[in-house]
Amino acid sequence: MLLGTRDILSLREMSRDDMALILDTAESLREIIYRPIKKVPTLRGKTVVTFFHEASTRTRTSFELAAKYMSADTVSLSASTSALVKGESLKDTALTLEAMGSDCIIMRHGVSGSCHYLARMVDAPVINAGDGMHEHPTQGLLDMFTIRRHKGSLEGLRVVLVGDSLHSRVARSNIWGLSKFGAEVSLAGPATLLPEGMGAIGVKSFARVEDALPGADVVMVLRLQRERQGKGLLPSLREYARLYCINGRRLALAKPDALLMHPGPMNRGIEIGTDVADGPQSLITEQVTNGVAVRMAILYLLLGGASE
Ligand code: NCD
Repeated sequence: MLLGTRDILSLREMSRDDMALILDTAESLREIIYRPIKKVPTLRGKTVVTFFHEASTRTRTSFELAAKYMSADTVSLSASTSALVKGESLKDTALTLEAMGSDCIIMRHGVSGSCHYLARMVDAPVINAGDGMHEHPTQGLLDMFTIRRHKGSLEGLRVVLVGDSLHSRVARSNIWGLSKFGAEVSLAGPATLLPEGMGAIGVKSFARVEDALPGADVVMVLRLQRERQGKGLLPSLREYARLYCINGRRLALAKPDALLMHPGPMNRGIEIGTDVADGPQSLITEQVTNGVAVRMAILYLLLGGASE
């Protein structure tokens, strides 16, 4: 089976068949992460470049490990140490990377739509590792993968996203991805941090988190995207924590077997309490492991699948 897309840019654009193929492939590749020798020859001779303009711990490392476990070579370039600081354009930087023979460019950028722009400039596949407040498709897929592993299917599940969904690319990718698989997605957060127009795509919004949580199968907590927020959207962090922090008392409003997720990085005591972040319902570290499996699947399908 082949993906119907050359680039991984957004889950809004990705077909349900492509998402299912990535999730199924990740399921079969996941065991490689637990092998004593984590190396399969599948992508030998391929070169993957990670090009990050924003901070990252998980996503960049996860892509690089995924590529290395499949024997691809990896090169990482940071905006702050590249010739971008000398005035070179994003387009010229991308063409340079491609001219050196890179087979795939994985980019994180602060501007929404920048990965789409890059994909038009180069022939190599482009993977969006987070573009501004737009989308983070591989995070959405790893979240869907994690939920599916625990609940069997996404169909009919009630998933509540709590926090700053207005500025969250993770929220947007999950909304599109989960909805395409028949999950019922709701958002909870201060009215100033809830996107408009969600009702039109079947997503409910709640300003009181206590109203959103009853019946939830999955509670996904989001970090306040303070680097993307304008002024005056929140009275104070303390006020936010008092009203929205997911702690044991609030999590108990969801179903007893509800899954607790967070894409990281967490701000403990603000959007999530340590009691639940480290508690039995938390899948936060498993999300990280699954992220490697999902990225292995994507690299395999984009770079290796066709020749197998
Ligand atoms: C997210 C991101 O960068 O969008 N992190 C991640 O990739 N795991 C979420 C965030 O920064 O809050």
